[in-house]
Amino acid sequence: MKYARLTGSGSYLPDKVLTNHDLESMVDTSHEWIMARTGISERRIAADDEFTCDLAEKASREALHVAGVSPGQVDLIVVATTTPDQVFPSTACLLQQRLGIRGCPAFDVQAVCAGFIFALDVANRFIRTQGARCALVVGAETFSRIIDWTDRGTCILFGDGGGAVVLQDDDRPGIHSTHLHSDGAYKDLLCVPTGVSRNYEAVKSGTAYTTMAGNDVFRWAVTAMSALVDETLEANGIGRDDVDWLIPHQANVRIINAVGKRTGFPADRVIVTVNHHGNTSAASVPLALDESIRNGKIRTGDTVLMEGFGGGFTWGSALLTL
Ligand code: UT7
Repeated sequence: MKYARLTGSGSYLPDKVLTNHDLESMVDTSHEWIMARTGISERRIAADDEFTCDLAEKASREALHVAGVSPGQVDLIVVATTTPDQVFPSTACLLQQRLGIRGCPAFDVQAVCAGFIFALDVANRFIRTQGARCALVVGAETFSRIIDWTDRGTCILFGDGGGAVVLQDDDRPGIHSTHLHSDGAYKDLLCVPTGVSRNYEAVKSGTAYTTMAGNDVFRWAVTAMSALVDETLEANGIGRDDVDWLIPHQANVRIINAVGKRTGFPADRVIVTVNHHGNTSAASVPLALDESIRNGKIRTGDTVLMEGFGGGFTWGSALLTL
């Protein structure tokens, strides 16, 4: 059986920076409060004429370039997004057309902030069963479009961005294991309670916004992501010292620190990038991964445990050696 190896990564953040000081003029908040409670100092916001597929395309082209793969070699495209350009076709099909790829399966996965891990799991299964040899896996969001910019409980947290990886078949791992979970019993704690089939009026009037029970989500995120570390280590029969880097979902520095502490990962082996791009939902993990590869922290041969947590709830992890 073949394994899936990550051979390239890329990411993209929109040009427009929204700082905490900018937010002070929009809602009743302060730079100090946001830093103390979230660790986020700024986030990026897509331009009015910039859409999720634009972010996905930029990240994907970079990942393909790094992997040394031409678009024609890609035989699977999976895009994780909660903020697709259109109701349909999928953002994956739009991306496929942009890249000039024809005929291979291309589809979206919707698992909100855990979306990239879910997409990675799907692509990994395709490659392991030899249904694909070269997969493009993307997490991209224009989350700013579903944020109520008058709600200080949510607007300080989120931002826009995209990240992508190329997975190719290989005789060596690669991805060692993936672990996915969902529980719809928590559907109301973090959601956009309107959509296409239900209350489309809100979508049409531009008021389909994210609502969140912040404290509950915080607690759950820490519990679920800590348990995922144990589950992943146990499934692979390894200890935490066999893992070079932990990349938790980038939502809040306090959540990341709490997961590091609970699982015994020293802070210098836990990746934190949320401070300069906020919570970019499905883009958060590939953004953190790509930045850490680019700045030389994560190197070829390193073993990385990545994990996501999002609305649904959905949560999942992936263990891989680069
Ligand atoms: O991908 C998963 C998605 N989401 C998350 O992971 C987010 C999880 N939740 C969180 O990150 C945190 O719960 C928040 C950052 C949203 C809130 O932090 P908190 O430490 O849980 O604050 P809190 O909700 O307990 O609020 C404390 C106080 C309240 O005032 P009172 O009632 O004590 O007077 C809030 O009204 O802070 C107030 N507050 C703010 N003050 C200034 C809430 N938001 C703000 C704000 N600026 N932006």
